[in-house]
Amino acid sequence: MTTNLAIHRRDRAGERVDRFVVNHPPDRTLLDVLRALAAAPVTSDGRTVAPVVFEDACAGPLCGSCALSVDGWPAMACRVRVGDLGSQAVLGPLPGFPVVADLLVDRGAVGRALVDARAWLELDGWAGPEASPWSAQAAQHAQSAHACTACGACQGACPAMGSRSPYRGPLVMAAWELLDSTPTGRLQTGVRRALAASDGGIADCGHARVCRDVCPQRLPMGELLGSLSAGVMRGRE
Ligand code: SF4
Ligand code: FES
Repeated sequence: MTTNLAIHRRDRAGERVDRFVVNHPPDRTLLDVLRALAAAPVTSDGRTVAPVVFEDACAGPLCGSCALSVDGWPAMACRVRVGDLGSQAVLGPLPGFPVVADLLVDRGAVGRALVDARAWLELDGWAGPEASPWSAQAAQHAQSAHACTACGACQGACPAMGSRSPYRGPLVMAAWELLDSTPTGRLQTGVRRALAASDGGIADCGHARVCRDVCPQRLPMGELLGSLSAGVMRGRE
């Protein structure tokens, strides 16, 4: 299948668009295409150019590192198939993050936001007997949230986040909700609910639900954030 790719480039020479014609079976991933292009970076007008810079790791989709923009929408290169692209596509860096080069962005803010939000399980000193088992509903809830790769697309697109807003962002809200739905995570629900009820918590969400629309993993962000909000409200009763 032939696809015309227009790729936004950025390096020391400045910004430009390079065009490539690629030929791959429809079931190959965009990540396969980018890897092949890196090995032979020849443009559609026959110029050999510097290989396109991009990031990948798991080829999963598990790690979120290959997140980029396809025709203006966040996507994961290891998940998009050549057949989904059709005859032409425009690739760019993941919106909302500083561009390092070409398709590579600095997503360090994502990890910092999760660490700052204590989005982890604290098991030190805990022997286990207090943890109650999963309910079927909690298990289903967590399963959907587990699909999150922490790619950061939702953080990058969220209109409620910004320098003037304390909002920690939809990924943090979803991570809290995920942790609160696990048997061990529920042991520290109070800590996370206090954070969710404070400055930068769920009350600062603008309900735009852009996070739901841009999530490449199709997480039910509206449901997750709504559930967190309901949990915070119950804590106030
Ligand atoms: S919720 Fe979706 S968009 Fe946000 S970090 Fe997880 S996978 Fe990416
Ligand atoms: S390479 Fe890990 S999610 Fe795509």
